[in-house]
Amino acid sequence: MVGLLSSLFACLTAASLVSADGLNARAVAAGKKYFGTAISTTILNDASANAIGKNFQDFGQYTCENEMKFDATEPSRGSFSYGNADKIVAQAQANGQILRCHALVWHSQVPSWVTSGGFNNATLISIMQNHIANVVGHYKGKCYAWDVVNEALNEDGSYRSSGSVWGSTIGPAFIPIAFAAAAAADPGAKLYYNDYNCDKAGAKATGAQNLIKMVKSYGAPIHGFGMQGHMTTGQVGSASALVSNMQGFTALGVEVAYTELDMATPSSNPNFNQQATDYATVVSACKQVAGCVGITIWGFTDRYTWISNSAPLPWDTNFQKKAAYASILNAWGSAGTGSSTTTATMTTTIVTSSTTSAGPAPSGGGGCAAAHWAQCGGTGYTGCTTCASPYTCQYSNAWYSQCL
Ligand SMILES: *[C@@H]1O[C@H](CO)[C@@H](O)[C@H](O)[C@H]1NC(C)=O
Repeated sequence: MVGLLSSLFACLTAASLVSADGLNARAVAAGKKYFGTAISTTILNDASANAIGKNFQDFGQYTCENEMKFDATEPSRGSFSYGNADKIVAQAQANGQILRCHALVWHSQVPSWVTSGGFNNATLISIMQNHIANVVGHYKGKCYAWDVVNEALNEDGSYRSSGSVWGSTIGPAFIPIAFAAAAAADPGAKLYYNDYNCDKAGAKATGAQNLIKMVKSYGAPIHGFGMQGHMTTGQVGSASALVSNMQGFTALGVEVAYTELDMATPSSNPNFNQQATDYATVVSACKQVAGCVGITIWGFTDRYTWISNSAPLPWDTNFQKKAAYASILNAWGSAGTGSSTTTATMTTTIVTSSTTSAGPAPSGGGGCAAAHWAQCGGTGYTGCTTCASPYTCQYSNAWYSQCL
């Protein structure tokens, strides 16, 4: 009892130093799995930026911007390189952040040994399968999701051939072959198709739905559709159009997520108020669709964005929060912060610790069981606190425990 009381006091002291609120905290309170960000070695090497990126209250999920792509992970044939991605994975695991792993088969950022190798169909298939087996195998058990195939469609919804070594050599069959290879290498990961300009109904979104049906028709598993969400300030329109588009995908039995959200506005003449409104529209749409599991922004500071001469992210170039930050926060809804939260947090912490040390199931569990990867404890969390067999509820920090 003395030990429990002293750890309770230690906990309360620690809790008073941190804010129990943020973009991720609000997303989780709204029933989502995460609000996350793309991250890079550039961010890890910038202490000011990384301090923001490490804040679990804002970011419960990471996507490596470049570090898991083909050119980074297999720069020469059969020679795999994971150093930079491993650093990001280690930081995510230290902070309890979920990983969306990205991306296995894409026509871009493929090394020239692949694109200029003159390989025939059968050889290129084996190169692709070997790449997937190695990379997915290396991160097995660590990725909530994999973007298995990225950007395989033309704007009219047809399969990309020109400019894609995969599409032009193998044809669309590379897509189900890639999904089957990823499933074999990590049966626990959610396997996604990921593409841009699919945020509203239209030829390309229809093409993506056809692609999902095609993968299933080959008997390969596909679990999610990633809407990249590279959007332009002032052109987002209504939440209802985004919602109905998402429902077109969830009706096929897959989950959806915004995987690379940013909101371009020219840095020379930005419209940050409209940008804030547009970010809130996307959050509101995701909130309305049960199958929308989370949102990832493609970086968080305008200092490090892939879009030239643009200021598309919620933090400015000096790491100050812009209007978009508050609008995203508000769009998720209330976080339930306040003194009662502190008490709830401490209760959860103690209960979760006892779960981790294989104690009896907490009474708050209500007999339900959270799925693999699902949250099972943390600030403001009211769902199942026990995990479906064979997974156990593993404590990450005061705000998050996960079934692993
Ligand atoms: C390449 O091989 C695969 C697997 O046999 C096949 O499905 C696909 O149609 C072939 N592609 C071409 C262009 O022949």
